Amino acid sequence: MEKFYTTTAIDYVNGAPHIGHAYEKILTDVICRHFSQRTSDAYMLTGCDEHGIKIQKTSASVGMQPQEFCDMNAAKFADAWKLLDINYSQLIRTTNPEHKKIVQKIFKKLVEKGDIYKHSYTGLYCAGCECFVSEKDLDENGFCPNHKAKPEVVEEENYFFKLTKYKDAIIKHIKENPNFIVPSFRANEVLNQLENIEDISVSRVKSNVSWGIPVDGDDNQIIYVWIDALSNYITALGYDTENPSEKFKKYWPADVQVIGKDILKFHSIYWLAILMALEIPLPKHILAHGWITIDETKMSKSLGNVVSPSSVMESFEMVEPDALRYYMATAAPCGKDGNYSDNDFKEKVNAHLANSMGNLLNRTLSMLVKYFDGEIKPEFVVDSPLFADCKKAIEEVKHHFNYYEVAEAAQKITELVDNTNKFVTDSAPWTLAKEEKWNECGQVLYTVLEVMCVVSSLIYPYCPNIASKMAKQLSYDLSTKLDDIEIKNIKVGKLISKEEISPVFLRLDSELADKSKK
Ligand code: ME8
Ligand code: MG
Repeated sequence: MEKFYTTTAIDYVNGAPHIGHAYEKILTDVICRHFSQRTSDAYMLTGCDEHGIKIQKTSASVGMQPQEFCDMNAAKFADAWKLLDINYSQLIRTTNPEHKKIVQKIFKKLVEKGDIYKHSYTGLYCAGCECFVSEKDLDENGFCPNHKAKPEVVEEENYFFKLTKYKDAIIKHIKENPNFIVPSFRANEVLNQLENIEDISVSRVKSNVSWGIPVDGDDNQIIYVWIDALSNYITALGYDTENPSEKFKKYWPADVQVIGKDILKFHSIYWLAILMALEIPLPKHILAHGWITIDETKMSKSLGNVVSPSSVMESFEMVEPDALRYYMATAAPCGKDGNYSDNDFKEKVNAHLANSMGNLLNRTLSMLVKYFDGEIKPEFVVDSPLFADCKKAIEEVKHHFNYYEVAEAAQKITELVDNTNKFVTDSAPWTLAKEEKWNECGQVLYTVLEVMCVVSSLIYPYCPNIASKMAKQLSYDLSTKLDDIEIKNIKVGKLISKEEISPVFLRLDSELADKSKK
């Protein structure tokens, strides 16, 4: 595998990022970091979606110019991703002039192709969804079920995109590629939606929506926010209708595009149709993740239960984001909904990262110092059935990531750590030391340390800081590609001194967490 290109949804910047936005960026970052351990070049794109009626209205309501408002909020997203160690390669903003220019060219190309035409229309528009909705999508009061708001009646002459022209080709693609939509159980949902699709409005009259990209040559029309937004995945790479950049040729098509289940329709129908119309290849996979709730309740401003990544880090006085990354990345099976709760967070990361994994390394290194002055003797180097478990775990983790099963892959790492803890308990190196069975004792410690090298590689995508602290104490090269890992990383000779040993993860203090809630 040469390159790996992954993208996230681009977030509306009408507020600050919450834990749901963070969930998606963490998942994508974990996937990208994993593939950086398997390819020579892994590229992650994220971004901000800055146009549309919702942003126009929100900025006006706080008395700000839309651009100024977007700048302010886009900075909050970038700050949050920094705090969470999201190692993105690029963050695109749709107000970027280069992006705007290419979106206009894309629109023009579709007009020239005869895929976009003008048409008078009356419809219902939900600003929350940023899309036209039909009567049957609404609840008994005529409200959008997602946004609990009445859609606005819109009567306009707009540009329309011939979505129906691509209907059969999209159905065929989804049916012929059962892994295209991950998880595959969502494919049926999309196939059902495809049954009833119609051509879609892809512009708004400027007097109704002014904050957006004007249609080139028709200043009274603003390009529909979803055409603008979806194009980011290629404009970011320097796609151009006439002369695509080297970067575009190198990275496109995307290996996986990560989005939430609520916007699957836009990505598996509208986006495919646009790509087909532009005659460029389709992404290999679309991963539709589930929804994150707070204490099993939907997050909402009105309920006042919106949790931000920075508030979690502050309330637990966390210096590094690894625990939150781990918790979020493992919050739900692939594609299913997950939940955040303070208690569950604390318990899970204390159990997995501190008690099982961190402690295992710490105890082993401490015994090595105590009994052998931190030295690995030639007699300690033996083979072990646990090394076969390591090889197996590497393969299983890779396999899960091939299907973007991030939580399932983590489960395999946990199992390897648990087996290794069991091995230590069963072998009781402290008893071997008491009985002065020094070689046997050293062999146990050596075995565990070899396993921990593998664990540090496998946990790296989730917990990059913890992994690097582990690797440092093991003198292990964390940049080793997964396929090149041999279970021969611990060298004979002095490995570590007492002063160099430090816990890789400290338990989250329960009192601190409680205090912060008051
Ligand atoms: O939809 N749990 O932006 P957005 C999990 N701009 N994921 C969540 C979530 C939650 N509670 N809340 C939001 C948009 N998300 C468009 C996308 S892409 C070309 C344009 C996810 O800010 C949501 O599913 O409403 C989406 O993938 C992303 O956050 C941005 O949502
Ligand atoms: Mg949304």
